[in-house]
Amino acid sequence: MRNFTASRVETLTPSGIRKVNERALAMERAGERIIHFEIGRPDFDTPEYIKRAAVKSLEEGEVFYTSNFGLMELREAVAGKLKRENGITCAAENVIVTTGLSEAVFDLLCTILNEGDELLVPDPVWLNYLNVPALLGARAVPYSLTEENGFEPDLDEIQKNISPRTKAIVIVTPNNPTGGVLSREKLSALAGIAAANDLLVISDEIYERLVYDGARPVSIASLPGMAERTVTLNGFSKAYSMTGWRIGYAAAPKEIVAAMNKIHQHNTTCAPSFAQRAAIAALREERDEVALMVREYQRRRDYAVAEINGMEGVSCLPPKGSFYIFINVKKLGISCAEAANYLLAEAKIALVPGGVFGKNGEGYLRMSFANSLKNIAEGCERMKKALKELAANKK
Ligand SMILES: Cc1ncc(COP(=O)(O)O)c(C=O)c1O
Repeated sequence: MRNFTASRVETLTPSGIRKVNERALAMERAGERIIHFEIGRPDFDTPEYIKRAAVKSLEEGEVFYTSNFGLMELREAVAGKLKRENGITCAAENVIVTTGLSEAVFDLLCTILNEGDELLVPDPVWLNYLNVPALLGARAVPYSLTEENGFEPDLDEIQKNISPRTKAIVIVTPNNPTGGVLSREKLSALAGIAAANDLLVISDEIYERLVYDGARPVSIASLPGMAERTVTLNGFSKAYSMTGWRIGYAAAPKEIVAAMNKIHQHNTTCAPSFAQRAAIAALREERDEVALMVREYQRRRDYAVAEINGMEGVSCLPPKGSFYIFINVKKLGISCAEAANYLLAEAKIALVPGGVFGKNGEGYLRMSFANSLKNIAEGCERMKKALKELAANKK
C-alpha cells in the first residue's frame, strides 16, 4: 500500500513533552511511583460556579452550534474584560471565540502566512508556534530568550532577523517554558520595531493571571497605536483550570477577525456551546477563585525555587509568571535530554528537556509546579539525592 501521509506532515516534530509523558506512564504501569512535573496543565478542579453554568446550559438545551464567531454575550464579555483589565480598545466585533487558544493560533497563522513568509518567534517557545508555520510552508525565525537577559528578547537581534518576508512577531508573556514576563519598556520597544517594519504582533497571554510577587503583565495591544496591529490571544485553560473545556479567543482588528473566521468555520465551526456559556460565567461571576489558585502556585513556586537553588549542579531564576521553572542544568556536564532521562530513571521524576522548545532551551529542564506541594517536596527531595549521586559518580 502507498504512504497516505502528506509530505507536510513529515515536517512536524513529535511533541517532546508527550514523549517524556509516555515513558513516565509506561514506568507507572510497571509499578513505579512517578512524580509528574512534565505536563502543563493546572492540577485544580474547575471552580464550581463555572461548572454550574455549564450544567445549567446543558439542562436548558444549549446543545447546538453557535455563531461561528461565538456567542455574542461571550464576545461582549471578552471585549469588556480586555478593556477593563488590559486597557485594550476593543468591541465584540473584534473578538472571535475558538476551541482553545491552540485553534486560534492555527486559524490565525493560516490567515496571515503565505508559503515562504517569515514569523519571528521566541526561542525557546511553546511548540505550536514552530509547527503550524512548518505545516504552512512558512518559516519560524527564532529570536533568543536567554537567562543572562532575564529571558527578555535582545532588540538588536530581532532587528537583525527582520527580512522583507517577515510578516509578524510572536510574543508569549508570561512565557512557556521560561516563566519570563516582558516589562512595559521592552514591550514599548517591541511595539516601535513592529510599527517601523509594518509587522503584525501576535501576543499570547494565556498565562496572564498566573503571575507572582505582585507582577502585572502588560498587554502590548494597550500601547499607543498597537490595537490596530496586534492580535491578542487568550483563553480559559490556565487561569480558570479549564484545559479540557477548549475555550479560547483572539482579539484583533475586525478585518483579521473576519478572515480568521473563514478558516475557523472550516476547522471547528464553533467552540462548544455550553463551554462558551461557562466561559461567560467565568468572566462575569469570578470572586476569589483564581486568586486562591494563584496564591497556592506562588507558595509552590517559592518552595521549589529555594529547593532547586540549594541543589548540586543546578540553578534557576524565580519565574515571574506561568507555572514553569526553567532549571539550568549546564553544570551537570550532560545534555538536558540525558539529565531528563537520568532523573526519570533514577529519581522517578518526569521533567521536559528544554531543547524540545528550541536551541536556547538546551541546558535546561522545564519543571511544572502545577502539582501538589507534597509532590513537589517529595520530587525535590528525590532530585537532590539523584544529583548528589551523579556528582559523586563523576568524582
Ligand atoms: C503559551 C501557550 N499558549 C497556548 C496554550 C494552549 O492553550 P489552550 O488550552 O487554550 O489551547 C498553551 C498550553 O500549554 C501554552 O503554553
